[in-house]
Amino acid sequence: MTNPEISSVLKEKRVFPPPAEFAAAAHVGSMERYRELYRRSIDDPEGFFGDVARELHWHAPWNKVLDWQLPFAKWFVGGKTNLAFNCLDRHLGTWRKNKAAIIWEGEPGEVRTLTYLQLHAEVCKFANALSALGLKTGDTVAIYMPMVPELPIALLACARLGVGHSVVFGGFSAEALRERINDCEAKAVITADGGFRKGSTFALKASVDDAIKDCPSIRHCVVLKRTGQDVAWSAGRDHWWHDLTAKQSARHEAPALDAETLLFILYTSGTTGKPKGIVHTTGGYMVGTYLSAKLVFDLKDDDVYWCTADVGWVTGHSYIVYGPLLNGATVVMYEGAPNVPHPGRFWEIVERHRVTVFYTAPTALRTFVRWGDEHPNRFDLSSLRLLGTVGEPINPEAWMWYHRVIGKERCPIVDTWWQTETGSIMITPLPGATPTKPGSGTLPFFGVEPDVVDATGKSVKPNEGGFLVLKRPWPSMLRTIYKNPERFKEGYWKRFPGFYFAGDGARRDEDGYFWIMGRVDDVINVSGHRLSTMEVESALVSHRKVAEAAVVARPDDVKGQAIVAFVTPKQGMQADDDLRTELRGHVVKEIGALARPDDIRFTDALPKTRSGKIMRRLLRDIAAGQAISGDTSTLEDYSILARLRTDDDE
Ligand code: PRX
Repeated sequence: MTNPEISSVLKEKRVFPPPAEFAAAAHVGSMERYRELYRRSIDDPEGFFGDVARELHWHAPWNKVLDWQLPFAKWFVGGKTNLAFNCLDRHLGTWRKNKAAIIWEGEPGEVRTLTYLQLHAEVCKFANALSALGLKTGDTVAIYMPMVPELPIALLACARLGVGHSVVFGGFSAEALRERINDCEAKAVITADGGFRKGSTFALKASVDDAIKDCPSIRHCVVLKRTGQDVAWSAGRDHWWHDLTAKQSARHEAPALDAETLLFILYTSGTTGKPKGIVHTTGGYMVGTYLSAKLVFDLKDDDVYWCTADVGWVTGHSYIVYGPLLNGATVVMYEGAPNVPHPGRFWEIVERHRVTVFYTAPTALRTFVRWGDEHPNRFDLSSLRLLGTVGEPINPEAWMWYHRVIGKERCPIVDTWWQTETGSIMITPLPGATPTKPGSGTLPFFGVEPDVVDATGKSVKPNEGGFLVLKRPWPSMLRTIYKNPERFKEGYWKRFPGFYFAGDGARRDEDGYFWIMGRVDDVINVSGHRLSTMEVESALVSHRKVAEAAVVARPDDVKGQAIVAFVTPKQGMQADDDLRTELRGHVVKEIGALARPDDIRFTDALPKTRSGKIMRRLLRDIAAGQAISGDTSTLEDYSILARLRTDDDE
């Protein structure tokens, strides 16, 4: 039996083999080699990952590669290492010491390059500064910063000390920041006065001040001066980054940390309740991001690699900071928006820094398609050799545009499926080996055993839709949900006992290729960012004029999914455009701009089952302007559907 809600309609037949020249120079250059390595990673995962781990530095060896007490994993048990040492110090004894580690471009146009030696010095100074504030292994800090080099410096300094970092995306509101700080009991917050975005400045310190009024765990606030805007100051608690680091030594001995030391917590949306603090630890995450960055992006020493994500998301953690630096790569980092000061800014950056590997999101590509080919066509993109996407399913037309207009039909495209929880890429082509099909993430990465199953957990037949599960542990997997192991078990391991359930629907075709079909739960994917409908509903209902709200997604050409909110105002409240504007502003204040509803529809009632559950399935059909499909027999009041549809026609 397959899930009737997951039926796949996509029938894409085009196949693109890797160019021979690319394959000849690639780390993994043929399907035979891929299959041979894959087989070993599945038959002997401990041998396979032990060998990979030995390419990195360990202060002391592990005594067991994997300790698996389903669903709790420990990797490299007893091993001692330091992730920041592996990203930095390990390269200083080689010619890479004067190689560019980060080439950063600010939105206003300035360029800063930090070599491995320079980045190491900055990280050591900041690690010394954090130690001087009393932070130590086992503590947590929140990081709320713009996309400037000090952001990776802050992450690496924490990793170096064994202080867990919790990065909160700079676009989140003070409310969202407060909730995350309080959940992980951060002792310090690292921020900036503000940042540059879309041609103007935005404030960060002001949001922090607002947030930490109610954060009893916070002792220190470290502030980087970026925009020079005015900030309020609390003496004793607040410290300028430049004052703290000015007197610190550029030397710092990286301590030997246990492989399972908390590395970071990153909050992500679940179906219910507050955001989940996804926990990643040091050793396994290091091995997973190192290997995947190397093989999926085929990183070589002369590459210039650019991932356009924000470090506030897992993509930035794994594939701007840790994965590429572990490989000694040159990483391009850009602070601002893609259309400042003109819609060709990304392509100008590719030309200026001779970017060779480019990794972005389908939503960005759909935006570029809309802006027109003339913008990329104005720049020299001949340095590019490999392209990637992440964050949501890519529609074949956007894939073809990427292939033609950006890759000039020369560059392989890696469509990488993974999640905050998985830590590193799970399903992906290897660019020198895997023939690609537009819209498919293709085949599993090493050590990953995915399957598509029906509601009873049985594998479905080729080309049938079902639920995507992972059937064995992998090194960079989440270890738990912070302080909530029960939610970890419930959320990921209960539905299909023994398997990790990703929350996505998928199909596997006759060649074994995976086609991801999006979320099957109440999580929506807006511009590649996961949001829970529940959180947006809670934000709406917290407004004094709202009685009830239901939030669903409808397909959107650019963002993938758009947010549609059905809102029942309280008795006597005027349901008009002013209230719409007020509610949009309210959601932005509570969560952040990315959660702003695209469409707010007022209704006097919501469709519910007799037991009182809102039937979002019906609302989804209405929001998409489709006929109601599926069963409505459990609906309590049929007249509501007719009323909702009438509203729709207004
Ligand atoms: O639904 C899948 C989608 O994004 C979800 C994970 O979101 P997040 O934890 O925010 O991480 C995003 C970046 C790793 C997945 O459950 N997703 C991610 N990549 C793809 C994708 N869907 C289809 N194809 C992808 N390549």
